[in-house]
Amino acid sequence: MCGIIGYIGGRQAQSLLIEGLHRMEYRGYDSAGVAIQSDAIHGIRRMAGKIGNLEKLIEHDPVGGTCGIGHTRWATHGPPTTLNAHPHSEGSGRTVLVHNGIIENYEVLRRKLVELGHEFSSETDTEVLAHLIDEVFEGNLEQAIATALSRVEGTYGIAVMHTGDPEKIVVARNGSPLLIGIGEDDLREMFVASDVAAILAYTRKVVYLDDGELAVLTRDGHETFKLSEFGSEGVVRLIDKEVSHIDWDLEQIERGGFEHFMLKEIYEQPDTVRDAMRGRLLEEEGIAHLGGLRDMADVLDNVKRIVITACGTSWHAALVGEYLLEELARIPVEVEYASEYRYRRPIVTPGTLVIAISQSGETADTLAALREAKRRGAPVMGIVNVVGSSIARETDGGVYIHSGPEIGVASTKSFTGQLAVLAQFALYMARKRGLTLIEGREMVAGLRALPGQIERVLEQDELITRIAQQYCESTNALYLGRGYNFPVALEGALKLKEISYIHAEGYPAAEMKHGPIALIDENMPVFFIAPADNAYQKIVANVEEVKARGGRVVAIVSEGDTQLTERVDHAIPVPRTMDCLQALIAVVPLQLLAYRIAVLRGCDVDQPRNLAKSVTVE
Ligand code: F6R
Repeated sequence: MCGIIGYIGGRQAQSLLIEGLHRMEYRGYDSAGVAIQSDAIHGIRRMAGKIGNLEKLIEHDPVGGTCGIGHTRWATHGPPTTLNAHPHSEGSGRTVLVHNGIIENYEVLRRKLVELGHEFSSETDTEVLAHLIDEVFEGNLEQAIATALSRVEGTYGIAVMHTGDPEKIVVARNGSPLLIGIGEDDLREMFVASDVAAILAYTRKVVYLDDGELAVLTRDGHETFKLSEFGSEGVVRLIDKEVSHIDWDLEQIERGGFEHFMLKEIYEQPDTVRDAMRGRLLEEEGIAHLGGLRDMADVLDNVKRIVITACGTSWHAALVGEYLLEELARIPVEVEYASEYRYRRPIVTPGTLVIAISQSGETADTLAALREAKRRGAPVMGIVNVVGSSIARETDGGVYIHSGPEIGVASTKSFTGQLAVLAQFALYMARKRGLTLIEGREMVAGLRALPGQIERVLEQDELITRIAQQYCESTNALYLGRGYNFPVALEGALKLKEISYIHAEGYPAAEMKHGPIALIDENMPVFFIAPADNAYQKIVANVEEVKARGGRVVAIVSEGDTQLTERVDHAIPVPRTMDCLQALIAVVPLQLLAYRIAVLRGCDVDQPRNLAKSVTVE
């Protein structure tokens, strides 16, 4: 959700900033801009629309210099126009800044600044910050920023330059991620970015900023301070920050011959599910070994109740987690939308464990929910993809899903990665609470077989494309499943609506009769998730009810199925596994189906309208 990049060093900044913005375009693509400092003057270029529009502008009107900042926007305050695009300045271009987050008291601040004679040119909350910093600037940029931020309520990740204190980029963070990249010594270069993908082509050495910190980047390096320690005399105490090494590869953040990132990520799933289990499954003992939970062993031994909190696709994974943990480990589980949990005075009793699930590790609501749980005394565990992200760092322990960078805005490989980790966690907990060795070994074998089985699903892509052709004109769709496949129905519907804009709903199949059945007619496709599990005969009955009303049915069935295959309009056979692992396989054809339908409708699959990856605002 919005992307920030900044650079100071020996290279020309313009092309480097644009390249970084492209790599973060999945974070927001309403408008984009750069500001580059040269001879203590800022060249600012901004443009509404995708980064390609900014590139065209720069082609005609380039801007030279080796120190600059850039931004790609996902609009919060003010529509996506060029005037609302970042970088913002106080008017003359002396102070320039890019900002992720929301300044909540911007109206009050703006009124005061107008009284002081400031004139505003945009509708954004961010412009207020540029004016405020300029207003309090007395020659030292970090001091001015600290003073300004002490008057601000809200969330921010900012990168700022000032012509009166040139040759430096000052950055600060509160609730919106920022990391510093350490470039090559002989180029005397430093980077800042909201997303590691932006700078991965240049460095893998990064320092994560924490909330309440400010850092100064110059050609001589970086220095980090606590915002709260700035007094009128400035601050002298430096914070010693650890340098982390990023082990993602550049090719992981490139499309690698696929038409879209989403398709590439769907096809990566045999590997990513394997990676989520690598080194974790112990065949002999019939258990999973999860190193990130080492420090939580006592907590896990004494768990009486688990609350899982998440948003969107990760929330769907949480529902599968609930079924897994209750069935296998017999631990009561509740699943909460993070946006609700954070505000509803949740009950934390002794023995309550809270699990936060998040691909990005930066989702504002999930982060706030885990902080609320911690505040109430709950131990908090994370299931996260992005290493070093805020949620990963703020939990007491956790398990990475190791899916690699997910660039497609619609989450796919992270969902199956989350399910693979939840299944292993459930196995670990269950083996400690009575699941037998034989049952444990059976589950380990089931998990081990998954990557090969997902490969077999991908072989159905041609069939799925043909089915997509039949339904790509639909305006509504229903997804139905039971048990572990109910969350799969929700996820299938979410995938379709977010990238194809077809209205889609997921329900437990039996709920159909309590309302949604009224929608069924010959124009309404109904997608059933109907493997040969213990709910199969019930699903067959639900299919009959739809057929009796003229509905068109597509069913995900087990390989070898005949009963449903003969009854439905289209059947997609997938490999059979244990009921508790079936969701990992059943979701894949639904991802592909949504993708193929969206492409046939001419939709921008990787950058669907109104959406952005990683929702870092409330
Ligand atoms: C859907 C999707 C979103 C995310 C949600 C949570 O395809 O990507 O629904 O799942 O915004 O994001 P994370 O998992 O990063 O917390």
